[in-house]
Amino acid sequence: MTEDSRVEELVYIMKKVGLNLTAQIDCCLGNQELSGVQTYFLVYFLRHHPEGTYLTEVCQMLSMVVVMISMSLASVRRISEVLSEKADIHDPENAVKEVKDGRIDFNHVNFSYKHGSGKNALSDINLHIKSGETIGVIGGTGAGKSSLVNLICRLYDVDEGSVCVGGVDVRKYDTEVLRNQVSVVLQKNTLFSGTILDNLRWGNPDATYEECVEACKAACADEFIDRMPGGYETRIERGGANVSGGQKQRLCIARALLKKPKILILDDSTSAVDTATDAKIRAAFAKEIPGTTKIIIAQRLSSVESADRILVLDNGRIDDFDTPENLLAHNAIYQEIHHSQMEGGGDFDQPA
Ligand SMILES: Nc1ncnc2c1ncn2[C@@H]1O[C@H](COP(=O)(O)OP(=O)(O)OP(=O)(O)O)[C@@H](O)[C@H]1O
Ligand SMILES: [Mg+2]
Repeated sequence: MTEDSRVEELVYIMKKVGLNLTAQIDCCLGNQELSGVQTYFLVYFLRHHPEGTYLTEVCQMLSMVVVMISMSLASVRRISEVLSEKADIHDPENAVKEVKDGRIDFNHVNFSYKHGSGKNALSDINLHIKSGETIGVIGGTGAGKSSLVNLICRLYDVDEGSVCVGGVDVRKYDTEVLRNQVSVVLQKNTLFSGTILDNLRWGNPDATYEECVEACKAACADEFIDRMPGGYETRIERGGANVSGGQKQRLCIARALLKKPKILILDDSTSAVDTATDAKIRAAFAKEIPGTTKIIIAQRLSSVESADRILVLDNGRIDDFDTPENLLAHNAIYQEIHHSQMEGGGDFDQPA
């Protein structure tokens, strides 16, 4: 058999099993001229593995490797794009390195995601929160709840007005110092592959075992961790695949507590936790971290009913800011949610 006919035979086998190895190599290496390399591969395999089935397996494996390389190259390109992106937020010279307390002041803030677009995500927000207060935030989808808390840790800068933390404009802080004192727990937080302790210490690498256990107790995570075979050494799979949504949320709250922040923000982060556990977590906050300012964004009214005050946002504006009792007595939006959730157990966006 000549070398050419061996190659033809191999190509025939590959087509039969639906493989197009040469095309994938081309794609992966940027459509370069590779006919010499391709021929070498084909002839090599044909010479050394004349059995068709074995050869097919080898080709399948090679094909998978090539596909994985091409996917990895695409990811590397995307990651380097993100890494080379210039940040919009810059620290000032002589940045403030200490956050005194958890006081928060919004002074007539206007904010839009696209400056000058005329479409404000937040309009004329004038808000004063005392250090250690527990504040509930409610409002429909797109009302501006997440945008409001994103300004506290300076993920974005305001268009007009100012946001102050501990009496200092957030633009004057060293952003790392500021963000270490403002812990945000999102609805969907990420857990990494590693033990539970590894994941907790991502919030504070110096946290002792005892501190981790304390934080888990406050976040009501200790009860399910104790039931796990490896306890705090149990391995969490990538993305937290082996824990439930509610368990993941509680681990993320514990992780945020380990930072010992002056401000703790829960952005809809107990949505997957049952109502009784949610209440236990809030009671633990009141007992364990009384000096920390707590901002709780929730769709479920029961999550904010014990707050000192509740902020009602509507279409990027403050509709009201008062105690739960006063809101129930006079605020139409609050009354509507209250009645709809009392009657039907629905959330904010469900009509009564
Ligand atoms: N990254 C962004 N870029 C552009 N516009 C955004 C961005 N994030 C939010 N918005 C817009 O800003 C407005 C407020 O959004 P925000 O996420 O603050 O609402 P929300 O009250 O948190 O809603 P939800 O309850 O759905 O989380 C919405 O009109 C939204 O479309
Ligand atoms: Mg939101």
